[in-house]
Amino acid sequence: MSTGSLLAADLVVGVLAPAGWLGGGAAAAAGRRPIALALAAFGLLATLGRAATVTALAGAGWWFAAEKVLIAAPLSLAAVVVAGQGLVRAPVDIRPAALPLLFAGYAEASALLVTVLHGYPASPAAGLLAAGGTAAATALSRRVLGANPSRATFLVAAVAMLAGIGLAVAPADATGATTAHQHGYPAAAPVGEPTRRFTLTAATATVRVAGRPVAAWAFNGQVPGPELTATVGDVLEVTLRNTDIARGVTLHWHGYDVPTDQDGVPGVTQAAVLPGQEFVYRFRADQPGTYWYHTHEASDVGVRMGLYGVLVVRPTPATGVDVTVPVHTLAGHSLPEPRTEPAKPGEPVRLRLLNTDSTTHRYALAGTAFRVAAIDGADLAGPGSIVDTAVLVPAGGRYDLVFTAPAAPVGLFVDGRLVYSTGPVSAATLDWPVLDPLAYGSAAQVPWSRFDKTFTLVLDRGLDLHGLLPRYAHTVNGAADPDIPPEVVQDGDIVRFTIVNRSTVVHPWHLHGHHVLVLSRDGRRATGSPLWLDSFDVRPGEVWEVAFVADNPGVWANHCHNLAHAQAGMMLHLMYA
Ligand code: C2O
Ligand code: CU
Repeated sequence: MSTGSLLAADLVVGVLAPAGWLGGGAAAAAGRRPIALALAAFGLLATLGRAATVTALAGAGWWFAAEKVLIAAPLSLAAVVVAGQGLVRAPVDIRPAALPLLFAGYAEASALLVTVLHGYPASPAAGLLAAGGTAAATALSRRVLGANPSRATFLVAAVAMLAGIGLAVAPADATGATTAHQHGYPAAAPVGEPTRRFTLTAATATVRVAGRPVAAWAFNGQVPGPELTATVGDVLEVTLRNTDIARGVTLHWHGYDVPTDQDGVPGVTQAAVLPGQEFVYRFRADQPGTYWYHTHEASDVGVRMGLYGVLVVRPTPATGVDVTVPVHTLAGHSLPEPRTEPAKPGEPVRLRLLNTDSTTHRYALAGTAFRVAAIDGADLAGPGSIVDTAVLVPAGGRYDLVFTAPAAPVGLFVDGRLVYSTGPVSAATLDWPVLDPLAYGSAAQVPWSRFDKTFTLVLDRGLDLHGLLPRYAHTVNGAADPDIPPEVVQDGDIVRFTIVNRSTVVHPWHLHGHHVLVLSRDGRRATGSPLWLDSFDVRPGEVWEVAFVADNPGVWANHCHNLAHAQAGMMLHLMYA
């Protein structure tokens, strides 16, 4: 079983166990012996099942199992022992077993909540709350069942829970990721005379999609915004204006490793551009490849509503057919609308696929063999020719596909929908195998043998009590933005990240200002072309190891590019000391 399925199975047995025990307790209280025994047996089976999933998860990595081993397992053990004793002591009349069975149910429910609300790393607060909650619920049941709960039980429960709550809401010892740089923004360094000038004006707009008017937020009245192109060596100067986007806008150059003052992260590298204001970005186009820009202020709603566009930097002016395919979902409509452009047989074609949504898209090129020339702007080494193979592009990611136009038409499908073709074409692509980029192209030695800094990011969901209102946040190491301590590096450090997804959803990870080299996934080394990525999907149960050189001083966002997740806490910062 994959670790992702184990995580899901663990939740299922985690729910069934308390259900069985609690049902058994209720039936016992009603004197229904056979039902009580059957439900208790069910609870026991589910509890044993959870012991199995927890053991397997611990084998997959301590991150997946810490709180289950340290808190849930002792609770489960207590549940089984107490319920077992209760049943042994009630050989004829089942009613005396009601309370022990209920205790087992509460213990198993607490064991589940520790995983669902708290997760990794295990903390004394979570342990105290779970134990205290179990004791308190048992004491209450005892009263309901007519017996007098002992004062001591209540006292123990109350003390444990108060201590737990105290620990849980105490301010995190984060060093203040956002406070450190609120003393003003870095000043832009001169980069030379601009050679490519653009103006992007953000405004609310009505755009037409599939013939229908759709309310959007647009750059220059269009979704996507204008395509910005440059040749390596150009100096780009982009003036951003905001007409009426009340929440403000910025431009973030996704995947472009610009100087920190041009990175467009509001509150970190600049203030958001409010209606009536403007901001001028200037940077040298020194990385060729396919990139995109988008607002980083209220980025979840802003990007979804249409504040994004393509940035292509070519090494030399384009030859042959060179097409960008930025995929986006705007108010339920899929962009781009399908288009057909004939290509002359023998002509070189480059399709630049961009995923500007918050979830993965599946692209399939039918009618020709092709190569994946670049991912996230970086050329691959020795990409082999492949055919009838789909590629999965993570949120924020880009793939460049190249081929020589054949005589018959080719078609590009996104999730089965035709978006680009050179002539009439139909194909069933949904059952094609999917390319694993970690095993594609020619390998090279990892350029480093030691790492100066290593960080582990454990991605999950959990209760976040540090804001004004409690929220069910997307968390990193058990904390949510702005309480996640920043990662501090020194200029020149070689940095390794281990990214662990112990949640049940995909997290497309994105580090600003740097491309990371993929070292391994789930403990297996990458065997293909070196992959220098800025956006990669960490699927449920996966463990990615990536590394990079800290060579771009500043303060950099490091977050999930499912922008709703980032908004809900999954965002931290990398800072240079
Ligand atoms: Cu494309 Cu911080 O984002
Ligand atoms: Cu996410």
